[in-house]
Amino acid sequence: MEIDLSKFNKDADNAQEQINILKERLSELKQHIKNKSVRSTDDPDLNKVITENIKLKHRLTILNRAITAQSMNVQPRDETRMQSITDIITDTFSSAIAAAFPDITDPPVVIALSGSNPKFGDYQCNSAMPLANIYKQLGKRIAPRDIGQKIIENVQPHELIEKLEVAGPGFINIFISKNYGTKSLATIFEYGVRPPSISKRHRVLVDFSSPNIAKEMHVGHLRSTIIGESICRLLEYLGHNVIRINHVGDWGTQFGMLIAHLKDKFPNYSVESPTISDLQAFYKESKNRFDEDEEFKKRAYASVVKLQSFDPEHKKAWELICDVSRKEFQKIYDRLDVRLTERGESFYQTRMESIVKELDAAGFLELDDGRKVMWGDGTIPMTIVKSDGGFTYDTSDIAAIKHRLYEEKADWLIYVTDAGQATHFQILFGCAKRIGLLDERIHRVDHVGFGVVLGEDKKKFKTRSGDTIRLLDLLDEGLKRALEKLKEKERDKVLTPEELKEAQESVAYGCIKYADLSHNRNHEYVFSFDKMLDDKGNTAVYLLYAFTRIKSIARNANFTAEKIKELSKTHQISLEHEKEWKLGKVLLRFPDVLLKITRDLCLHHLCEYVYEVATTFSEFYDNCYCIEKDSSGDIVRVNYGRILLTEATALVLEQGFYILGLKPVSKM
Ligand code: ARG
Repeated sequence: MEIDLSKFNKDADNAQEQINILKERLSELKQHIKNKSVRSTDDPDLNKVITENIKLKHRLTILNRAITAQSMNVQPRDETRMQSITDIITDTFSSAIAAAFPDITDPPVVIALSGSNPKFGDYQCNSAMPLANIYKQLGKRIAPRDIGQKIIENVQPHELIEKLEVAGPGFINIFISKNYGTKSLATIFEYGVRPPSISKRHRVLVDFSSPNIAKEMHVGHLRSTIIGESICRLLEYLGHNVIRINHVGDWGTQFGMLIAHLKDKFPNYSVESPTISDLQAFYKESKNRFDEDEEFKKRAYASVVKLQSFDPEHKKAWELICDVSRKEFQKIYDRLDVRLTERGESFYQTRMESIVKELDAAGFLELDDGRKVMWGDGTIPMTIVKSDGGFTYDTSDIAAIKHRLYEEKADWLIYVTDAGQATHFQILFGCAKRIGLLDERIHRVDHVGFGVVLGEDKKKFKTRSGDTIRLLDLLDEGLKRALEKLKEKERDKVLTPEELKEAQESVAYGCIKYADLSHNRNHEYVFSFDKMLDDKGNTAVYLLYAFTRIKSIARNANFTAEKIKELSKTHQISLEHEKEWKLGKVLLRFPDVLLKITRDLCLHHLCEYVYEVATTFSEFYDNCYCIEKDSSGDIVRVNYGRILLTEATALVLEQGFYILGLKPVSKM
């Protein structure tokens, strides 16, 4: 369907004017109702007024929607993109329900996927029961089945919809059309697996990973890194403009003691760069001195003050220390294939100074025991200035949110940290709203929290000796275990050393990422190499194997990607067999899964989906021959439509894998 934008714009322009007129009419009518002393529904005059009122309200809602749609800068449909089936059905049924029941304002439009029984269709509209309830409250009794029937009568024909049926107490079963499926899946060969359209291209800033300089990056930061990277990949794929920010902790009071210690240990650090091989040990040493030596403590405090006023010598020392950490962090990002721009707390120093002045001048800061605090809407304030005049984590986040919204001009901010910081972000968002920075009508903010990582003993993930686990050690352990697994399956006997190494890395990093993403992020999860390296169940190993198997089907029939593309011009994807159609319908759901994740930012939906694709594929493959061979192993027949279905499956899986950070290998 083509949208004529010029006409649409003009319509929406007039809409505001019409709304004003309608609002006036509405208040007149309300007054009229009030003036009538009798509130009897037997009064025909009053009834007329009420009906008119309801109709006007409905008209108002529609016009309001038009205005919102216009301000969201709706783009015409892009034929190359896959469509969201849920969106089409929701739109179709919204119109049908509005047409069937114009007297109900904002009627419920409930669309769901049907259960596994094909008798109940593919999708369902479950609006009839809630509508019957609304009528009951208005004093009218209508059987939900009749409501269902009336909705069906008002559904405009759409190529997606094959058949509609009222079932049970009033559910509407929706059967989708194979014709539509064939056409829609064919776009994959023409344009690739294209994402569903988005109504607005957002500028999204994702703050993730964000470890602290001079401290070890721990498993919490690993979770943030993995989840954040996948969110970025998803949003980029959908076409948003994504800014990836590593908000490293590089500006706290700990730098005072680190610099003071550096000066003592490497007096000529400014001419000869010292090699601090173990920053952890260095941190511990300086912390010990800080706790025990009063004179050192004083020097440490003095150093922070100097650093924060950008004294060149102190800045140099600080940079030296940051560099050591930065290199360590980068090793992890390289191995996990993560891209980030570092913009730590230090970046906001001058902005913190100015925002504190602004807040003070505007009367937002309150004195509390020597500190300056600011209240949002909750019961805990933010500490903006400490009693010694220093700034805090809160100060940098308030300065950062302003920078992100007004200098970076992002309209969507995402913060990925452990759930323990949920309150911090709630307070931050509350304060930002109160001081007028954050306007939820134009900005979206999300704190993407996650649960803690547990060891197999169900306690906080630690080494045997109780230390925090070094991430590099963890990744090495993953590599070792992945290789063992591959050898156990005798892959070392069939793969070249390069192929084996590639498979080893793909399995190791893939399984760590996938284990993290496949759990609902809000829950804690148990880190277990045994479980994540299992080749059965919803694991990276199972999926990577499934993928190579799928890829090998076309390869064994001598089909290259180009040849398949050619084939798609002369042949249709085959959706006739029950198992083919089942698989096809799962593939068609890909856009909906992505849109769902855009709403709740939970990547486990995508893990469940790729797993469903892989298992549905094997069900299809067990039942349907793609290639028939004779007894001597020669190919006698190739089912082209099935080769296309196989390839479409591989392409959808590949795109899902990319978002999840899995790197499929051609041989495993
Ligand atoms: N460095 C912090 C930590 O390790 C995380 C920072 C998250 N981002 C933010 N803007 N507060 O806990």
